Amino acid sequence: MTFERNILCIGAGYVGGPTMAMIAYKCPQYRVMVVDVNPERIAQWNSDQLPIYEPGLEQIVRSARGKNLFFSTEIEQGIREAEIIFVSVNTPTKTYGAGAGMAADLQYWEKTATQIRKHARTHKIIVEKSTLPVKTAQAMQRILSAGNEGVKFDVLSNPEFLAEGTAIKDLEDPDRVLIGSEETPGGQRAREMLTAVYANWVPRERIVASNIWSSELSKLVANAFLAQRISSINSISALCEKADADVEEVARAVGMDSRVGNKFLNASVGFGGSCFKKDILNLVYICRFYQLHEVADYWEGVVKINEYQKERFILNMLSTMFNTLAGKRVCILGFAFKANTGDTRESPAILVAQRLIEEKAELVISDPQALRNARSDLKGVDENIAYVEDPYEAAEGCNAIAVLTEWDQYAQLDYARIFKSMRKPAFIFDGRNILDHSKLFDMGFNVFPIGKPAYTHFDADNL
Ligand code: NAD
Ligand code: UGA
Repeated sequence: MTFERNILCIGAGYVGGPTMAMIAYKCPQYRVMVVDVNPERIAQWNSDQLPIYEPGLEQIVRSARGKNLFFSTEIEQGIREAEIIFVSVNTPTKTYGAGAGMAADLQYWEKTATQIRKHARTHKIIVEKSTLPVKTAQAMQRILSAGNEGVKFDVLSNPEFLAEGTAIKDLEDPDRVLIGSEETPGGQRAREMLTAVYANWVPRERIVASNIWSSELSKLVANAFLAQRISSINSISALCEKADADVEEVARAVGMDSRVGNKFLNASVGFGGSCFKKDILNLVYICRFYQLHEVADYWEGVVKINEYQKERFILNMLSTMFNTLAGKRVCILGFAFKANTGDTRESPAILVAQRLIEEKAELVISDPQALRNARSDLKGVDENIAYVEDPYEAAEGCNAIAVLTEWDQYAQLDYARIFKSMRKPAFIFDGRNILDHSKLFDMGFNVFPIGKPAYTHFDADNL
């Protein structure tokens, strides 16, 4: 069968896999190839056990795989055959040299650019799907045109806004698709070609064109704004606990102002995920590079409040459990950084678990999807950790439960049964405010929500 277009994606991760699966699913007339340097990951994409858990993903992969969706390690061949190449490799925070701990590590992205230049024989449209510092497209263009004069490349910025756990819904019905291009004839043609791909299922008015630098920057700023809302409400949660206010009531009242809106105002143990912290730190780094220190400090505050919130949660556990956790058994309900994913990157649960182990607590970790990742995150600190999928079994004999991921099923558990099986006094720390706190208190639990007064059977002054 001949296809209308050959599309390649380099990087078969959380973004590359689902995004390309959606394009293949919506556009049977295109051939979509996803390549990666990691053969294990590719083998998983070709198996029944996909490398990531994402509701609805399996169904669309199954329906397109082998027809117009392919996963392979043949990167060079993929480059030769494709007209449009998405680059969706990882861009983590740099851990070495200049900008360590702040700047984006562009080594994977640069290797890809060099490899494209080396193997391309015909015109290619290169689409930046990874989240990149502003002005990266310029560097990409320079790498691509160094020493391969015969071949022309047009670079577009097309950042991805999907959230894990809702990736398929977000890809199928996105708020917007952003395409940044240069205002050259080649840039405009490339933008039109990519617009035509998305227009197969996304209404044209939601496909937004911009200049390439605005597009790169918009992605960092979108994540910074989202994370800022969480840090804003989390900072207020600390005040609510002191002032006997209820953060959910405050969030509702504030969010009902249509200028503010009610989303992303759930106070929590802190935000996690592979991107918020990394992208904000990258934004901070760029601001410092341009000597905009006040702007950098402002955004760095979002990350600092998040660290403070995690720390506060841990210290609250320690102080309310009589300032010692040594030998106590704590059940962690939820290790993923949010519900409906098995991803644990930057999950607050990692820090909580490490710190509880430092306090010599014994841990039982439960999660419906993330136990494999939890094991690898806690490698080396895991002598006192058990991994138990069944939450009832996990809580048995524990002194405390910490709810760290907002999985729906955790709100539905039979807590009376759990209470009976626990050591007394029994504590519950609801890091996601998903439980019925007064009901738990009536069962006998000492309950510590986020941003609300605690429900305790002890005299608060004696805690
Ligand atoms: P990931 O780590 O899951 O996937 C990246 C993949 O790229 C890995 O499988 C890796 O093996 C592969 N890779 C690295 N170098 C390669 C090379 N030279 N050639 C071929 N393959 C290579 O990362 P991710 O979560 O998919 O994120 C990718 C990018 O998308 C990042 O820039 C991230 O900021 C951005 N992003 C992520 C999300 C998300 O929800 N995870 C959402 C929006 C944007
Ligand atoms: C986030 C953005 O929402 C996506 O638009 C973006 O594409 C993506 O980052 C990225 O660039 O990687 P994601 O991290 O997958 O998506 O998930 P979110 O739903 O944004 O949640 C992030 C963290 O914030 C989670 O730990 C979540 O539990 C927490 N959160 C979210 C809160 O604590 N409170 C809220 O009100 C909302």
